[in-house]
Amino acid sequence: MKQGDAPLYQALQNWKKKSVHSFHVPGHKNGTVFPTFAQKEFQRLLQIDATELTGLDDLHDPADAIYKAQQLASDYYKVQATYFLVNGSTVGNLAMILGSCNEGDTVLVQRNAHKSIFHGLELANVKPVFLSPFIDKEAQVAVGLTEETVKEALKAYPNTKAIILSNPNYYGMTVDLTNIINLAHAAYIPVLVDEAHGAHFGYGSPFPVSAALKGADVVVQSAHKTLPAMTMGSFLHFNSKLIRKEKIISYLKMLQSSSPSYPIMASLDLARYYLSQLSKEQVKKIIIQINQFREELNEIESIRVLPASSYYELDPLKVTIQTACELNGFQIQERLEHMGIYTELADPQNVLFVLPLAEISERKQITGKIKEALSNGRLVRRPIVPVEAITHTDYTELVFPYKKLKQFNKKVVSLHEAEGFIAAEAVVPYPPGIPFLMAGEKIKQEHIKRLSAIIKEGIRLQGGEYIQQQKIYVYDYKGE
Ligand SMILES: Cc1ncc(COP(=O)(O)O)c(C=O)c1O
Repeated sequence: MKQGDAPLYQALQNWKKKSVHSFHVPGHKNGTVFPTFAQKEFQRLLQIDATELTGLDDLHDPADAIYKAQQLASDYYKVQATYFLVNGSTVGNLAMILGSCNEGDTVLVQRNAHKSIFHGLELANVKPVFLSPFIDKEAQVAVGLTEETVKEALKAYPNTKAIILSNPNYYGMTVDLTNIINLAHAAYIPVLVDEAHGAHFGYGSPFPVSAALKGADVVVQSAHKTLPAMTMGSFLHFNSKLIRKEKIISYLKMLQSSSPSYPIMASLDLARYYLSQLSKEQVKKIIIQINQFREELNEIESIRVLPASSYYELDPLKVTIQTACELNGFQIQERLEHMGIYTELADPQNVLFVLPLAEISERKQITGKIKEALSNGRLVRRPIVPVEAITHTDYTELVFPYKKLKQFNKKVVSLHEAEGFIAAEAVVPYPPGIPFLMAGEKIKQEHIKRLSAIIKEGIRLQGGEYIQQQKIYVYDYKGE
């Protein structure tokens, strides 16, 4: 098998060519049984929406086309094994944690993580110690952990059993994990990395280098985020001498469907193919175009493009524009949408573009539209004043193990009476996107003061259904 092959896609093509009578699932029978008005739209895809038929292998016991496709992916990413995921990095993160940790293990966890990491910790019943990332002052977003933070935490928690990191962040800011991984491995501690936004990092320069190549033990990537894979298509890369591969496989079997989607799996095969076939020349052209896009955007007076920083490496596929006028990030995003330009996300200062791993079609027209969207009206240029970031200096732990927390009922209390209770929900202010309070943490007077101020300042909060009314969900338990 060569990287220029796509064995799973090919197996589906061979299957499609056969003229068969289908008396098996799925019920759409290769697209022949379907609401007529939608049939045309779905037809071609349904013809390859197959199941574990002869010649099409089985994700949970791969021996043929899926085995070969996963093998090609692991060769490409230079890891011991790669597993196809049909439920996103979400399922990858769950299997990574459950398969690498045991109940009661102390694990160091980067605090600005995706909710699937927190869910994994809860399901695995581990003892998390949350470590605070550094914050990029210009963008006011949380980036990653410093080596120093991890070093100190390892001293404070010498019985640490795993370190769980998230890198890059949503904005493509990428920390070099080499030293952290070496530090952990010197103590025989495995490093698990949620690299959801870095599936293209397998390519190497000019993109940041994947944590898998830096020695991380397990790395999870959402191929669907930056590679041409279907939504939910993701990879779990295993590359460890410290973790048992079989345990991760057994969790993947438990957590993934017994009827995984063949179009999603084939798109993973093709995403790896696409990345492997990108020539240096093509990538050079892509980068030149990205730089032109950045320059054109920078000429628009009411915004500026977030520059690179010496603290992290920036993924070229992520371009963040910052407001330099009286509009906030959300208002800029809205104006762009009126022009038919849909971006990935906005926060009070920034709007994030996720660029294609290809040349941007109609780039000039797009920048023209952005200019038009942001130059009509009275846009006063103003300096960018970073808001004060909320930082956590200490390590934070849960008051009780997850198992015990589950025994308590939840109730809503007003913030001013919340001191001493245990938070039953996470409260995440944007910026900087670090959970200010995590479910299971004790609410202190400083939390209440700062949270009240955050609400008054109008900072956007995620989670916390009643938080805007100065109320919070707590466990119905108050310590002595
Ligand atoms: C850092 C991070 N990890 C994991 C996920 C979950 O990925 P998926 O959507 O592939 O399940 C996301 C989704 O946005 C994410 O941003």
